[in-house]
Order: sequence, then structure tokens, then C-alpha cells
Amino acid sequence: MAEQTAALQEVREKTEQIIMKYMPVPEGEAEPVISAMNYAVSAGGKRIRPLLMYLTYRAFGGREDICEPFMAAIEMIHTYSLIHDDLPALDNDDLRRGMPTVHVKFGEDIAILAGDGLLNYAYETAAKAFAMHWGDAKAEKAYAVLASKPGIYGMIGGQTADVVLTGKPLNEKQLIYIYENKTSALLECAMTIGAILAGADEEQIEKIAAAAHDIGMAFQVQDDILDLTSTEEMLGKPIGSDTRNQKYTYAVIFGVEKAKEYVRNTTGRSIRFITEAIHEDNPEDAHYKELLLGLIGSLAEREK
Ligand code: IPE
Ligand code: IPE
Ligand code: MG
Ligand code: MG
Ligand code: MG
Repeated sequence: MAEQTAALQEVREKTEQIIMKYMPVPEGEAEPVISAMNYAVSAGGKRIRPLLMYLTYRAFGGREDICEPFMAAIEMIHTYSLIHDDLPALDNDDLRRGMPTVHVKFGEDIAILAGDGLLNYAYETAAKAFAMHWGDAKAEKAYAVLASKPGIYGMIGGQTADVVLTGKPLNEKQLIYIYENKTSALLECAMTIGAILAGADEEQIEKIAAAAHDIGMAFQVQDDILDLTSTEEMLGKPIGSDTRNQKYTYAVIFGVEKAKEYVRNTTGRSIRFITEAIHEDNPEDAHYKELLLGLIGSLAEREK
């Protein structure tokens, strides 16, 4: 167990270095927006999406560095989604990753542009994978996933429904649509890219997508629970944001106990999908599969 924690810590540090290596340098006429982009990304965060991508890639036997630009790209896309999610027109939050939100620190104009900048730069970054391995069909397929899952049939669709349905009691279909898209879509994006780049077959990729779907649903419900039960110091973002914004979250509709049960069950199912999908045939792959399962288990109990 202690060994696993140390190994995961090592992967976290490597992930951190990869993300920062690909960030643009604040200089030139665009310096104000690049500084705001760096501020948001370097504030930290759990780096769950690139971590899940990397561990999935390694557990399927991936050994090369082609995953790296995609890891940086998914964290840029996620961070852009947070900058925009915090804007006064959306959730109007003033703290993120333990720091003032980008619009509080740099103004709304630069915050909007910093989000745009991160989104666009994510694709410039991921495109670097093509130069690393010219003609690699796996990189092309992964790029298409990176282009679609954060978009209107994914994250943006979910955020749209979240905004439009604010203040309205949701039916089950609407609630599921919001969670599947605003949150699960980016986790599916991360994990399927890891599987694709490592050369997993279609059936395995589908199982990984199913696992990531469940991890995302559990992740958002846990986020809703923490909004009700945690502290600002612990979370690094305001608590009670959902209540203030009249968001009918899973935890609000069904109560915290039911929500906790949902997180446990859904996490359990995702672990079964992963176990079925990955048939490791050497100790190195098995090691990363264990780390992946350990990380997923820990997400269900996370306090931030
Ligand atoms: C917050 O994501 C937004 C949700 C989808 C709930 P994270 O909880 O992964 O935020 P960071 O990256 O650790 O700050
Ligand atoms: C947002 O969900 C998910 C995104 C796509 C950014 P929340 O609005 O609950 O995320 P937090 O709680 O602000 O991190
Ligand atoms: Mg929101
Ligand atoms: Mg929010
Ligand atoms: Mg939240």
C-alpha cells in the first residue's frame, strides 16, 4: 500500500512536469493572456484527467512519449472549463484551487480570453504528437476524440443544460444528461485517448469508455457532496456554491447518504469494467493497472 502511494506520487510529479513543460511562455503582445493561462494551470489541481490518461496508456502496454502532449492538452481543456465555469455569468465563484479565480485576479475580459487561449492551445499542443510520430493512425484517432468530447456533444452540452436548467427541479433524464456531459465526457476523453494511443482494440476501448463514464458520474456526485459537507480551506473553492446558484444536484435531490451510496456503487462498477478490459500480460502493465484501480478507488473517498 505504501509502495503504491509512493509510485502514484511519482506519476503525479511526472504529470505535473509534463503539463508545465507544454505551457506557453508569457511574452510578447499576448503576454497578459498567457500569464493568466499560466496562473490558472500552475495553481495546481488534482490532475485527475491526465493521470487517468497516463495510467490507462501504461496499463495497456504503452511505453512511448506520444501520450505527453495529450496529457497536457486535456488539463488545459479542463482548466479552461473551470475558468469559464467560475465567471460571474455562470457560477460566479471567486476561489479556485485555493487562489482567487482568474476573473477576480485579471478581470473578466482576460479571464474569457484565457479560457479561449487554453482551449485553442490544447489543440496546438496535442498536434505536436503528429510531429513525434508522423502518420500514426492512433494519434489521429486520439486527436478526433480530443476534438469531440469537450464540445457541444460533450462537456459544453452538459454545461449548457446546467446553465439553462439552473433553478429548476430536474427530472432524472436531465440530471443524467448534465452529469454525463459536463463531467463524464472529459474523463471518457482522457481514458479512451490513453487506450487508443496504447493500441487497445475496439472492445477494450468501449469498456474503458464505460468505466470512465461511471468514474465521471461518481466524481461529479462526490463534488456535489463536498459542496454541501466540506470546507473552503479543504476544497480550495467556495462551498455552498450549488445552493447559492440553486443547482438541483444529485446530493440535493436524493440527500447526502444516498449520494454516497451512489458514488460507492458506481465506482465499484467502473472497477469491474477496467478489470475486464485490461488483460495485462507482463508485470509492468499489471503494476500500472493496479495504480489505476487504486486511483479510481481513492476518488470515491476524496475530500477535495
Ligand atoms: C472540478 O474538477 C470540476 C468538476 C468536474 C467537478 P476537479 O475536481 O478535477 O478540479 P481540479 O482540477 O482538481 O481543480
Ligand atoms: C462544473 O461543475 C463542471 C465543469 C465542466 C467545469 P461544477 O460547477 O460543480 O464544478 P465546480 O464545483 O465549480 O468545480
Ligand atoms: Mg458549474
Ligand atoms: Mg462551478
Ligand atoms: Mg461543484
